[in-house]
Amino acid sequence: MLHCGGLKKRLIRSLMQLKVPSTIREDDLLNNLFDLKGFELAAHNKLSKATHAFFAGGAGEGITLNENVSAFDDLKLLPRILRDVQERSLSTTLLNERIDFPLLIAPMAFQCLAHPEGEVATTKAAQEHNIPMVVSTCSTCSFEEIKVQTTIAPWLQLYIYKDREITKNLIQLAEASGYKGIVLTVDAPLYGKRINELHHPLTLPLDFEIKNLQNAGLNLKDIPSSKLASTLASLLDPSLTWNDIDWLRSITGLPLILKGIMNPKDIQIAQVHDIETLIISNHGGRQLDTSLSALETLKLMRGLDKGKMEFILDGGVRKGVDILKALALGAKAVMVGRPILWGLAVGGEDGVKKVLAILKAELDLAMALCGYTSINQINEEVLYFPG
Ligand SMILES: Cc1cc2nc3c(=O)[nH]c(=O)nc-3n(C[C@H](O)[C@H](O)[C@H](O)COP(=O)(O)O)c2cc1C
Repeated sequence: MLHCGGLKKRLIRSLMQLKVPSTIREDDLLNNLFDLKGFELAAHNKLSKATHAFFAGGAGEGITLNENVSAFDDLKLLPRILRDVQERSLSTTLLNERIDFPLLIAPMAFQCLAHPEGEVATTKAAQEHNIPMVVSTCSTCSFEEIKVQTTIAPWLQLYIYKDREITKNLIQLAEASGYKGIVLTVDAPLYGKRINELHHPLTLPLDFEIKNLQNAGLNLKDIPSSKLASTLASLLDPSLTWNDIDWLRSITGLPLILKGIMNPKDIQIAQVHDIETLIISNHGGRQLDTSLSALETLKLMRGLDKGKMEFILDGGVRKGVDILKALALGAKAVMVGRPILWGLAVGGEDGVKKVLAILKAELDLAMALCGYTSINQINEEVLYFPG
């Protein structure tokens, strides 16, 4: 994996820090993982080379992929003290729904590659923690199969296809299943150049399905599995403009959220188009290498007149303290991607539950140690800006 130098170094560093004895039995693994680094390593051991490359990889040399994570460690804290933090609440609201803590599960394609239950297992874990899951257009389970597992309505992540009928059908399928909002991904007019996927092309099980796209009318039968991800991307409409936001509004009444917005100039245009929820994201470093990290991008928004807009940060969140930092910079919540896949690969539903429980407990601890008792108290005073 030519461009994974940074990731490899991090994995080796993690391995040296991990205190997991080599004699741990497989069925006891979950009890011996205490942070998301441990999950990342355990999943790496479990997944095939090709699946790991698809999940873990980024675009180009992986610079944005790594900086999404390191930007959090580079931002230091100045905790407040003596503020009675005995009683604490992590609860907040998103799209007018109360959730247990400010986290959404990021949309990720092909989750059945991590575990046979795929998105169904992920959503059951999300339900246990009372948080929403954003379901990828390219999910392996159907919208309905996922929705029936949860009382927290999932959100639909949408790609707009050149064939608009498919897009319309996807929205109708999600609406019929009671989905809560539409997350339009706007940073993927073309598929990013992902070197590890080229080195290790995906081979998919014979019974592999992408049910929603098939139900929406897309014929995927003749596409070789090694070409599936990139072929799917080639069906996307690269001619999208802001006018298509109005088109989407004309065919659905669901709240519209944009995922993959980075430039403050585009934030201003989104404001004109009455978009209230924006996901600051570089697609987990999978699209345009050397894009600014998600956290640094959020920093850019500090002076902006946000009006009614709410920001969700997506990319690089690996610890509870990362969530606190994103909230301190003004995010309403964060989205988490790859660590969910690591949990799914290591322990299915229980693995994802444990990943979420770790993040929640770490956020609670970070909040207490910074002198906060509720999510909406968290603010910039706790961050150190050098110079
Ligand atoms: C394996 C994988 C598949 C993904 N599939 C999609 C997708 O179908 N639609 C989408 O908008 N983003 C997709 N993403 C991007 C995630 O939604 C999210 O932006 C990214 O993973 C966040 O970074 P993190 O993994 O560092 O948390 C995918 C990411 C991964 C790792």
